[in-house]
Parts: sequence; structure tokens; C-alpha cells
Amino acid sequence: MTQDSKQRIPVNESEPNSRQLTFEIFRFNPLDPGSEPHFDTFTLEETAGMTLFIALNLIREEQDPSLQFDFVCRAGICGSCAMLINGRPDLACRTLTQALPSTIRLAPLPVFELIGDLSVNTGKWMHGMSERLQTWVHTETEPDLDAMEAAMEPALAEQIYELERCIECGCCVAGCGTAVMREAFVGAVGLNKMARFRLDPRDERDDGAFYELIGHDDGIFGCMSLMGCQDVCPKALPLQTQLAFLRRKMAFAGI
Ligand code: SF4
Ligand code: SF4
Ligand code: FES
Repeated sequence: MTQDSKQRIPVNESEPNSRQLTFEIFRFNPLDPGSEPHFDTFTLEETAGMTLFIALNLIREEQDPSLQFDFVCRAGICGSCAMLINGRPDLACRTLTQALPSTIRLAPLPVFELIGDLSVNTGKWMHGMSERLQTWVHTETEPDLDAMEAAMEPALAEQIYELERCIECGCCVAGCGTAVMREAFVGAVGLNKMARFRLDPRDERDDGAFYELIGHDDGIFGCMSLMGCQDVCPKALPLQTQLAFLRRKMAFAGI
């Protein structure tokens, strides 16, 4: 134990024997031909307010500098720290160790390309999905750069903002049975984006155009409606409502 770690505050000052945490962490470097997928075990003394971000950084600083994982914002905003925490997709930076049993098993999100250990390339997946679904406002109107910003009804702007809260963490994709089985499935994150652009009055696409993009088994009709996505979404997006609404609209658009 380093001098620094000795000075950490135990969870309960009156209980010097605070929990010893055991971390079982997935290890694999796909770029190393000698690397085999396995779990490594690390132990750590739990401290007050410890998050998995803090724990993983301590392990890397004090026990294994080669451990790979991603964090950027540490505030549940960038979406980069999503991983399987005892089998459930969630954001590591927002997860307190106190909310978990003393043995914590961490693994990378499935579906996405593995970079190494707990780090996956969600950006590549999200970029491909966004290109396929054309997740931008489609309009024939030439933008007037001198004009005032177009006004929008506050209630509608609020509805769009609610769907814009998605941080592209990938938890809904990792928790989705269809996405695990069907590589090209666009996931709740993609379907949520379609719902968002369908709402936007500046987007001139009609339901026929949206049907071309998601009216098939890699889109809305591949969704089994079991709502694993909504259960694990760390931003609590209303995915169930959006997906059900979109399915109804696309079923009519396809007739
Ligand atoms: S409801 Fe659809 S998108 Fe959500 S987890 Fe189930 S199959 Fe995937
Ligand atoms: S819908 Fe939720 S779980 Fe899915 S990528 Fe967005 S924030 Fe993450
Ligand atoms: S580090 Fe940004 S969401 Fe966790």
C-alpha cells in the first residue's frame, strides 16, 4: 500500500475495518497475439464516496498501469465509461462502490469493438449507425445565416430536448437481445434518434422516408419490445414510449 492510499478516508471512521473490495476485471488485448481473454483479480480498501472511476484509477496507479478503460467527463455526460458492472450495463463514473456487493465483476460492453480490457469503440458504432440513419435535419430550404434563429413552440422544443439527452453511452445496445444477435440492428439509441428527427419541424422528411431507413428487421421491426434498453438507460430516456409510437407510425407508413 502506498503512503497516499494509507491517507484515504475509510467509509466509516468508527469502523476502521471498512470493506475490502475484490475486483474481477476482464483483460484482453486484441492487438497482442499472445493475449488470451481472462479475468484478473485486484483488491482495494473501500473509501467514502468511492466510485468505480476512483477505484479503477487507483488500481491502475497502484497495481497495474496497463489496465485499459475510458473516462472523460466523470459526470455522466460523455458516455465513455459504460461497462458491464456485475453483468449490467451502466456508467462506471456514476456508480458508487457502496451500492455494490464487495465482489465487483467488470467487463467491456458486448456488441462494440473491443479496444482492450474494459475499453470499447462505441464511437465507431455510433458513427456508422448515424450515417445509415442519416441523423441530421433534412431540408431543401437554403439556410439564411443572417436571419434570427427560427422560433419553436416551447412544448415541442422540450419534447425534442428530452430525446436529445441521449449521451450515446451504448448501454441500451449492450442490454438489447436483438443487438447482440443482429449485428446491423440500430438499437434503441438509433430508433430514439429517428423519433427525435421525426418530431423536428425543420426536418422535411415524411414517414415514407423514415420507413425507408427503419422499416425493417434491422430497424423498428427487429425490436422485440422487451425494454431491456429502458431498464439500463442511465439517462432514463422514455424509450418504451418512443419505440412503441415509432412502431405504430412505421406500420402505417408501410401499408
Ligand atoms: S425494446 Fe427493442 S431496442 Fe429495447 S432492448 Fe428490447 S429489442 Fe432492444
Ligand atoms: S438511449 Fe440511453 S442507454 Fe442508449 S445510448 Fe442513449 S443514453 Fe445511453
Ligand atoms: S466519464 Fe463521462 S459519462 Fe462517465
